[in-house]
Amino acid sequence: MTDTLDLHISRDEIAARVGELAARIDADYAGMGELVLIGVLKGSFIFLADLVRCLTIPHRVEFIAISSYGDRESTEPGAVRLLMDVRHDIAGCHVLVVEDIIDTGYTLSYLLRLLGARGPASLRACTLLRKPDRMQVDVPVAYLGFDIPDVWVVGYGLDFAERYRTLPDICSVRQDGE
Ligand code: IMP
Ligand code: MG
Repeated sequence: MTDTLDLHISRDEIAARVGELAARIDADYAGMGELVLIGVLKGSFIFLADLVRCLTIPHRVEFIAISSYGDRESTEPGAVRLLMDVRHDIAGCHVLVVEDIIDTGYTLSYLLRLLGARGPASLRACTLLRKPDRMQVDVPVAYLGFDIPDVWVVGYGLDFAERYRTLPDICSVRQDGE
């Protein structure tokens, strides 16, 4: 089986958009104290790294890990499992969840419920990508990079069976027959 990769969003387009998102976050949270950004592992690690380095407001980085897509497809749809929690209490904090991509919306909706129950001062979501055609649950996104069609994308943190995560551009991937 061979994979065919097609450029979907170039590194320059990504960098420009990340800068715009950071500028909006800077403006929205100005004067509000420390912002806690929670990256959802593993997919968001490169996006988060670039985003936080564009921010000028005080901020802190945390990570959370949830079950992978593959795990989930073998169980009931929408079942999400927490694999690793944040290290600090987020009660009273301004929290921004940073995701790589929203597909069905189940993961983000689970995370917002989980974190929202801990009493943050505010809780919002930022995602680099979203597939509107695939969404099963309506989940609020304050900061969105790009809406994309229903294709599997890799690169810039996103993987296909753990491959292609470190490609600098976002590409769509297609598996051709043997
Ligand atoms: P959701 O719960 O269906 O919204 O799934 C979101 C998660 O599925 C993302 O955080 C990714 O880990 C994974 N995912 C969904 N679509 C893609 C894709 O096109 N490429 C890589 N990972 C994806
Ligand atoms: Mg993810």
